[in-house]
Amino acid sequence: MPHTALITCSQESEGLLALELRRLLPDCSLVWAADGLMRVECDLAMADLAAIISGKAGRGSIFARHIAPVQVVLPDDASVAQVCNAAMSVCAQIPAGARWNIHVRDSERRAAVESAAESASDPELRSRSDPQVLVSVIRADAYYVGMADAAHCLSTWPGGERRFRKEEARISRAEFKLLEALEVFDLRLPASGMAVDLGAAPGGWTRVLLEHGLDVTAVDPADLDRRLKGHPRLRHVRMTAERFRQDAPACTVVVNDMRMSAEPSANLMASYAYRIEMSARRQGANDANAWLGIMTLKLPERGITSRALLDLIDRCLDILMGAFGRVRARQLFHNRSEVTAVMEGLAQCD
Ligand SMILES: C[S@@+](CC[C@H](N)C(=O)[O-])C[C@H]1O[C@@H](n2cnc3c(N)ncnc32)[C@H](O)[C@@H]1O
Repeated sequence: MPHTALITCSQESEGLLALELRRLLPDCSLVWAADGLMRVECDLAMADLAAIISGKAGRGSIFARHIAPVQVVLPDDASVAQVCNAAMSVCAQIPAGARWNIHVRDSERRAAVESAAESASDPELRSRSDPQVLVSVIRADAYYVGMADAAHCLSTWPGGERRFRKEEARISRAEFKLLEALEVFDLRLPASGMAVDLGAAPGGWTRVLLEHGLDVTAVDPADLDRRLKGHPRLRHVRMTAERFRQDAPACTVVVNDMRMSAEPSANLMASYAYRIEMSARRQGANDANAWLGIMTLKLPERGITSRALLDLIDRCLDILMGAFGRVRARQLFHNRSEVTAVMEGLAQCD
């Protein structure tokens, strides 16, 4: 019997997701159920589908943000009682003792469906931040109700929309991109050592790196936010990343959020990798596997087809794979006209 799942992406990336899914899931039926929501029908079990989409079994999808399982489909004019009953029957199957959460994509009926779900499962075990099981009730061209292991859903946030609390100390909205990348790619920044931040101004990423305890060399011709002035572990180098490359210091983290086209930016990261490795060797302190890079690949917003965009991203990832041990990429909730790539380890030393 075929299985159904709903895959979410940003509305601007629908063409890209469709192309990726056709490549990754050639034997599945793919139909848009709503804006940014693709219905997938195939013979794959949820765990296998998740492995393909997340890249555990190959390159994976960059533009999928969330996978919602479907066990019950109701017509889009189903009554509240019908939707609540479906949610209750699914929730009754949550394994005993499992932390769970429910996402309801229907603002009018959210309260009624959530309270029905809680009546059918253990409300004490409902966990919004760390669920083991996710129940979804999604209103699109029909009502879709389902439950899955949270590890198979790509994100435990509704539709992959990771929202952070706004802090007074925040310097730029860009900070959220770095925080989200650390979470989505399950990365741990080292507690000390040197980080280089390319295209650092006004300094949001720099602030996050300093807060983690790293020394930061912030490279940008533009000014940093005045709140960073005089920070004892910060050095601001007022020059372009291309010029600074000659003097790149030995470091364990390089981040790059430069306003620069994706391909030259990827090439620059690769050339930094070689120089950083050489500096590290000179200093006899080379743990190449501990090396971490995070960058945004800025994509053209107009005048390019989805296929050409995917080809461009592929070329960038190939450039990065030539220089780094492991490369992954996703479009995060906080990415606009860009994707985030993460590089772990230096290729030469593997
Ligand atoms: C999107 S902003 C970076 C925001 C930053 N990540 C934050 O969290 O505040 C892009 C920055 O890239 C810088 N930039 C553009 N080209 C550059 C280059 N060739 N070298 C260094 N910085 C560059 C710009 O001056 C700009 O400050």
